Amino acid sequence: MNFPGQHIISIDQFDRDAVTRVFDVADQMIPYARRQRITRVLEGAILGNMFFEPSTRTRVSFGSAFNLLGGQVRETVGMDSSSLSKGESLHDTAKVLSGYSDIIVMRHPQAGSVAEFAAASRVPVLNGGDGANEHPTQALLDLYTIRSELAGKGRELAGLRIAMVGDLKHGRTVHSLCRLLQLYKNVKLTLIAPDALQMPERLLENAREAGLSVHTTSAMDEGLREVDIVYQTRLQEERFADPEEARRYRGAFRINQSLYNRLCHPDTVLLHPLPRDSRADANELDNDLNDNPNLAIFRQADNGVLVRMALFALVLDIEKDINKHARDLHWYTPQR
Ligand code: NCD
Repeated sequence: MNFPGQHIISIDQFDRDAVTRVFDVADQMIPYARRQRITRVLEGAILGNMFFEPSTRTRVSFGSAFNLLGGQVRETVGMDSSSLSKGESLHDTAKVLSGYSDIIVMRHPQAGSVAEFAAASRVPVLNGGDGANEHPTQALLDLYTIRSELAGKGRELAGLRIAMVGDLKHGRTVHSLCRLLQLYKNVKLTLIAPDALQMPERLLENAREAGLSVHTTSAMDEGLREVDIVYQTRLQEERFADPEEARRYRGAFRINQSLYNRLCHPDTVLLHPLPRDSRADANELDNDLNDNPNLAIFRQADNGVLVRMALFALVLDIEKDINKHARDLHWYTPQR
């Protein structure tokens, strides 16, 4: 994969070498993300951060990543505050916004919308999530996290055993992660969901064809045993045609410390793309797990900055110049 100038729309654009490249550059970003050094390599550059759907982590981590490289961020949040609500097409919006930015990140509720936008854009576009379809940068940061959590236990990605739990039908993060895992050898994937919320058939077929061992079940008792990673997801209530139907599944797949003690190996790492729904009737990852050292959700969220810095550096072709534009910093920084 040739990064400079590329749109990043789908995780299928990545081969093993490209993923390794992103992870290597992400590792180089650690001193900058941890505020040990600062770099101004993207001084003068503008990121158009266009979020036409709710977002906290993805939006702010993309923005922070760009700021940490010395660039500036212009942001649009929500349909209502943009001209899309006046009937403007994605084509026209892309033509206009790409005149104002050096690179664009976009999130939009419709599957395929970011690709359509990118086709009309004059600058690279990164997909921040297009409906239930894909979330490629999340998959990269998830795998980066899996790799580093396993490394902490003296393990590698090969032979990974991972269980994905919850709304696998509508969750774009698990769609992209499932595709990304196909690049690795001997991955054992357990998909825990009620039949109606199971991973789309097409993705299951692709995973099996790629040589993954795929097992589907609706039983937590069966699926959570003997895995290295549990990847919990949120019920994507906003993607159900009938909100009543969504409510039926609320809280059906909650994990708490006593379930973890009963079913999981004590080394099992817990991930979640976040936000976790902590309302009492959902509570998908209980607060009583907060002191569990294998709850890696906030390390995972932190890694989003590293991976997104790496993608900006590679797409804007400045990764070799970062250190040239760097210096030590002197304000108070907490231990991270
Ligand atoms: C996810 C998303 O937006 O798809 N969040 C994120 O980007 N970290 C998951 C979700 O909203 O449930």
